[in-house]
Amino acid sequence: MNKEEALQLLDEYIKTDTLISHCLTVGAIMKELAEKLNEDSEKWEIAGILHDLDYELTKNNPDIHAIKTVEILDDLVDQEVKDAILAHNEKKKVEKDMEIALYAADQLSGLIIAAVLVRPDKDISGLSVKSLKKKFKDKAFARGVERDKINEITQLGISIEDFFELAIKGISKIKDELNLDSYS
Ligand SMILES: [Fe+2]
Repeated sequence: MNKEEALQLLDEYIKTDTLISHCLTVGAIMKELAEKLNEDSEKWEIAGILHDLDYELTKNNPDIHAIKTVEILDDLVDQEVKDAILAHNEKKKVEKDMEIALYAADQLSGLIIAAVLVRPDKDISGLSVKSLKKKFKDKAFARGVERDKINEITQLGISIEDFFELAIKGISKIKDELNLDSYS
């Protein structure tokens, strides 16, 4: 599967603008992480784009969230991608690099979107690593974001500061594809 096909699937299965924006930001972070780690950047980006593919289908049955996605993807992606998707919803132990990356990127996406939304211009361009770090430390800010999961990135030899920097860079590149006005 290539990125184009992943985006088509996303369009087919996800109708909520906020969720599409979330999936695209996780994809953007995964791509940057892969580049930093000399991994297959398109494959990592696809894992990010598709990780919540079944979200709307499993809304009333969250126990099968991620499991359903893996069923849909079947042989369209390899086991590494499927394992990362399963692990992000704790359907598998988080072990391999891509699993750790997706687990952490999923949460960081939430923190960054929340940080962008409180900016008057809602533009990520002005968001600094320093200000993001402050929001990361402020547990009252974006309470739902699990900071522990973001910290797991250090297992891959990436510091929190580097993680924030590459994520801001990656999301900045796709900012025009995001629909931040759809967040209320
Ligand atoms: Fe997610």
